[in-house]
Amino acid sequence: MDRHSSHDFSAKWARGVLGEVVVSAKEVHDRVGELGAQITQDYATRPPLLVGVLKGAINFMADLMRTIELPVEVDFMAVSSYGAATKTSGVVRIVKDLDVDLLDRDVLIVEDVVDSGLTLNYLRQYLGARSPASLEVCALLLKEGEQRVEQSLKYVGFSIPADFVVGYGLDVNERYRNLDAIYTYVGEA
Ligand code: IMP
Ligand code: MG
Repeated sequence: MDRHSSHDFSAKWARGVLGEVVVSAKEVHDRVGELGAQITQDYATRPPLLVGVLKGAINFMADLMRTIELPVEVDFMAVSSYGAATKTSGVVRIVKDLDVDLLDRDVLIVEDVVDSGLTLNYLRQYLGARSPASLEVCALLLKEGEQRVEQSLKYVGFSIPADFVVGYGLDVNERYRNLDAIYTYVGEA
């Protein structure tokens, strides 16, 4: 993977606040296809319930589910871990819970990024208590460096440096989710 594909920078409207391209739109597209193929193979006999974590996972979920060739079901949770800050507080609040029962379901959590791991750790315990048949994680991004909570992630799209990033669902104050690539965030000059 060529992580520094700065040549394909195209988001002119956001140029003032973005740093370099961390994962290009093509890299995202190709990797999502690979993950979908792997999930299709791994879950062939037991189509999973995909649980997207709003809002950051919306782009990833929308693309990933279309690459899985199984009758998957899809649901969403909304959690709030950061508020408007860019550093984790460790406090996770459930803003929207699931609509479906998890009993004996093969659940695959679809997450945008694992940074400290606190959000995912909380979600795993919260959902694990509802007796799913299995509970695994598909994270698009894993921040390099030490996760504060040990994680076993079944699927990871990309390992990236610990810088704050935006795009492809990831935001700063609700903005930049609509970028097709993932960029470092530099902020207003
Ligand atoms: P963690 O609890 O520290 O692992 O953080 C997980 C959550 O924080 C993610 O689901 C994101 O919503 C948010 N987050 C972490 N890193 C970033 C980033 O670089 N950009 C945008 N959101 C982030
Ligand atoms: Mg966020």
